[in-house]
Amino acid sequence: MALDMDKLNGFIGQFVGDLGAAVAAGMVVIGERLGLYKALVAGPLSSAELAAKTSTDERYVREWLASQAAGGYVTYDEKTNKFSLSEEQAFTLANEDSPAYLPGAFQLALGSLAAVPRIADSFRTGAGMGWHEHDDGVFHGCEKFFRPGYAANLATTWIPALHDVKGKLEAGGRVADVGCGKGASTILMAKAFPKSQFFGFDYHDKSIEGARESAKRQGVADRVIFEVAKAKEFPGKDYDFVSVFDCLHDMGDPVGAAKHVLNSLAKDGTWMIVEPFANDGLKDNLNPVGRVYYSFSTLLCTPCSRSQEVGLCLGAQAGETRIREVVTTAGFSRFRRATETPFNIVYESRP
Ligand SMILES: C[S@@+](CC[C@H](N)C(=O)[O-])C[C@H]1O[C@@H](n2cnc3c(N)ncnc32)[C@H](O)[C@@H]1O
Repeated sequence: MALDMDKLNGFIGQFVGDLGAAVAAGMVVIGERLGLYKALVAGPLSSAELAAKTSTDERYVREWLASQAAGGYVTYDEKTNKFSLSEEQAFTLANEDSPAYLPGAFQLALGSLAAVPRIADSFRTGAGMGWHEHDDGVFHGCEKFFRPGYAANLATTWIPALHDVKGKLEAGGRVADVGCGKGASTILMAKAFPKSQFFGFDYHDKSIEGARESAKRQGVADRVIFEVAKAKEFPGKDYDFVSVFDCLHDMGDPVGAAKHVLNSLAKDGTWMIVEPFANDGLKDNLNPVGRVYYSFSTLLCTPCSRSQEVGLCLGAQAGETRIREVVTTAGFSRFRRATETPFNIVYESRP
């Protein structure tokens, strides 16, 4: 066997980068939880100054800063021995309203990884694991990770890309957001379309509690009602608009859910399906975005679907052809890709 040393070194180099990224997930979560990134915006700061500003221990902070500087998440000035954030680092790590706020993704990753021992067993047994059975970091991280993308696109691009929806919501429509998790998408829509009435449904009671609190905190509780309900059972009829964000593929019976959506819609209503960006063929998803989604799918989405009735397990990289099949099998007559971003595809389905 003749090893190609260049290829070997290249692969080991990739491994070192990946290992650093894996442990960096914990570093980013610590930085966010303790407000270290936000405090650094006012930098440059020494480790002692950052520790004093955040009421933390200098020795731990110094080690954390070194890890961050080595990974390019914080900028180090050798002359002053101080640390700061570049504009880009601050935009992505310290500004929760930025469309590219990153710490939520690491919180989601860390929370998901807590399930590794159980999921490894599931590889042998085929057992599922419900969304509700995961570490809390999964629910908080999911909201934090997805919200910035929704804030940047939902009201300004995704809804306007649909036929005849924006006008209806501006005038005052009835909307169901199914599988709404902690309600980030529902609340953003309620803010953008104050004359409409919103109902957020999810089977996970803790997420619904969190969503209710957020709605109160953000002053939209008058027009948003959150209730625990499964996608095949949510109440209400004649909705003008039903949305599902990053959750159709998590459901055990997405065809059953789609049938229920069809029955709940008004005749001229619209169902918007937001799914992770994916191509139909595996080889076309073998890229960094596909890697992220396939990994989350192994830990979260596939086990969630497997834990429910039917257990279709579409996976987070289902692709347009599979989603079209689900929607048309359920009886929708119109289906199209309305728009997309590098991370999401937005489909429009109509009765
Ligand atoms: C990846 S999270 C997305 C949450 C939210 N839509 C968002 O974008 O932030 C998937 C959500 O689907 C919910 N879910 C999974 N299966 C469901 C079902 N059969 N009925 C209702 N909700 C379901 C989970 O509880 C979880 O909140």
